[in-house]
Amino acid sequence: MLSANDIKRKVGEQAAELLKPGMTAGIGTGSTAYWLLMSLGKRVQEGLDIRCVPTSRETARLATEQRIPLIELNDVAALDITIDGADEIDPKGQLIKGGGGALLQEKMVAAASKQFVIIADHTKLVQQLGAFPLPVEVIPFGWKQVQRHIEQAYQIKTSLRSKDNQILVTDHGHYILDCHFNQIADAPALHIALNTIPGVVDNGLFIGMATATIIGYPDGTVRESRV
Ligand code: 5RP
Repeated sequence: MLSANDIKRKVGEQAAELLKPGMTAGIGTGSTAYWLLMSLGKRVQEGLDIRCVPTSRETARLATEQRIPLIELNDVAALDITIDGADEIDPKGQLIKGGGGALLQEKMVAAASKQFVIIADHTKLVQQLGAFPLPVEVIPFGWKQVQRHIEQAYQIKTSLRSKDNQILVTDHGHYILDCHFNQIADAPALHIALNTIPGVVDNGLFIGMATATIIGYPDGTVRESRV
C-alpha cells in the first residue's frame, strides 16, 4: 500500500505527462501540485519547452527553483491547461478548493484555461461537498460584517483563518473565513449567494470548471476521468 505522499507523487508525475512542447499551463498550489512541479522541473531541465502561470507565490517560488519558465496571466489570451489539487471533489466534478489559501488566483488561472485537470488522492472524493470547511476570501475592512452575515443566513459557525497565531493574509492581501457548512445541498446556488455579499472577494466552490480528474489510490492505481 502506498503512503498518502507516494499517492500524490504518482498522481503529480502522471499529470506532468499531459504537458506537451509549446504549451502554456497553469500550475496549482498544495502538496499534490508540489509533485507536479517536481516532475515538470525535471522535464523542463531535460528540454521540455513550456511556459507556466503559477497559482500562488509559493508555486512561483518552487517553479523558479525548478527553472520552469513563468509568464504573467496578462501575457496570454488563454492557457492550454491548468493542473491543480482540490480539497473535495463531488460526483459532478464540483470542487471545494482553497485549503492552501490560494483560491482566488487558482480560480482566475483555471477560468482562463481550456482544460482544468484536478489531481488528488482518493480521500478527496465525496458524495456531497461541505465536510471540508468552505474558504471564503474577504477584504480585511469590515470582515466581521461578512462573518455575521454568513453565520446568520446559514446558521453555521465560521472561523477566521490564522497561521502561526497571526491572521492569515492571502497573496492578494485578503483574509479567509472558513465556513463550516458540513453539507452543501446546492453548490451552484451557494456559490452565487456568497459572492453577492459585499466584502466577499470569492469563495472556494469551483462549479462547472473541472474538465478531468486524475485520482490516485493506495494500491497504486491512478484513474483518469473526464468530467
Ligand atoms: C490550495 C488548494 C489546494 O489545491 C488544495 O488545498 C489541495 O491541496 P493538497 O494537494 O495539499 O491536498 O486549493 O488553495
